[in-house]
Amino acid sequence: MRALTLDPKTANSTQVTELPDPEPQAGDLLVRGLAVGVCGTDKEIARADYGWAPPGHDRLVLGHESLGRVMTAPAGSGFSSGDLVVGVVRRPDPVPCGACAHGEFDNCRNGRYTERGIKELDGYAAELWCVEADYAVALDPRLEHVGVLMEPTSVVAKAWEQVRRVGERAWYAPERVLVTGAGPIGLLGAMIGVQQGLDVHVLDLVEEGPKPRLVERLGATYHHGDVDEVAGSLRPDVVIEATGVGSLVFSAMRNTAPFGVVCLTGISSGGRTVEADVGGANREMVLENDVVVGSVNANLRHYRQAAEALAAADLDWLEGLISRRVPLERFADAFTARPDDVKVVITLDGDR
Ligand code: BGC
Repeated sequence: MRALTLDPKTANSTQVTELPDPEPQAGDLLVRGLAVGVCGTDKEIARADYGWAPPGHDRLVLGHESLGRVMTAPAGSGFSSGDLVVGVVRRPDPVPCGACAHGEFDNCRNGRYTERGIKELDGYAAELWCVEADYAVALDPRLEHVGVLMEPTSVVAKAWEQVRRVGERAWYAPERVLVTGAGPIGLLGAMIGVQQGLDVHVLDLVEEGPKPRLVERLGATYHHGDVDEVAGSLRPDVVIEATGVGSLVFSAMRNTAPFGVVCLTGISSGGRTVEADVGGANREMVLENDVVVGSVNANLRHYRQAAEALAAADLDWLEGLISRRVPLERFADAFTARPDDVKVVITLDGDR
């Protein structure tokens, strides 16, 4: 079978490699890969800025945003041949820490977790892959063409859960949300906000193209102005920050309504400095009981929440998030950004 592989220590080493078909172990599903999504993390790994091969190997199979169809499933696993599935990204650390021992590996405390396609475990960018049935999540069959959006949706499902849990430390009835960044994470975060009946606003740089249209079709409001002005006039109860850009993060922190919750989901590269009145921000945050919370990855509960959110979404709208589908052999095209890209997907089954 063919897989997309690289040496995480060598930039631009991504290639299609012929590998032996995987052998399912006890408890594993054997899955035919349909597609993988490409995100900023994949691009960082391809640049040799992130990512780890499995111990003792130089090569990592890429791909953590998966979608596949079950070929064989162990009896009693709850899965059967033909099911549409997604594989979970993270696995608990071997110790395990308290969080991992409680199934909350997304909150691992010792950093020894592993991640498919990212950290020490081969990923899902392969024509065939295996996954433990306990780390597979079934999708509504109607999601065949868009189910590859499941992993980023799980990330925002977790982010929204964090917001709610932080908010519920006192009386909580948020109304207005600002999402910064109209990439897949921002748009899927906006979608979940709309599903919750909130007044959702999305801010990005672009003035035209698919992003403003997608926001409007969602019933949310698109903004492309200065972040201080937009956030300052909206005074949101919640900010879902999906850019990782320092100046936006800081502006979001300074412009919430009292009792505001800012959830940071963007993984910045670091190394850039911004001048900021940290004392002023501290004063406001204390006097308003504001919270800034970071959120990464997702556990099984969040994948199930994401599966429900996708099943409840408008399929056409979800389709609109997928800008391009690139066959495996043309993977390099998927790693080269185009101005109107939202989510680019690599297809693994040859005919889609
Ligand atoms: C993935 C997460 C992962 C994180 C850090 C993100 O791109 O969506 O699942 O935990 O990278 O490796």
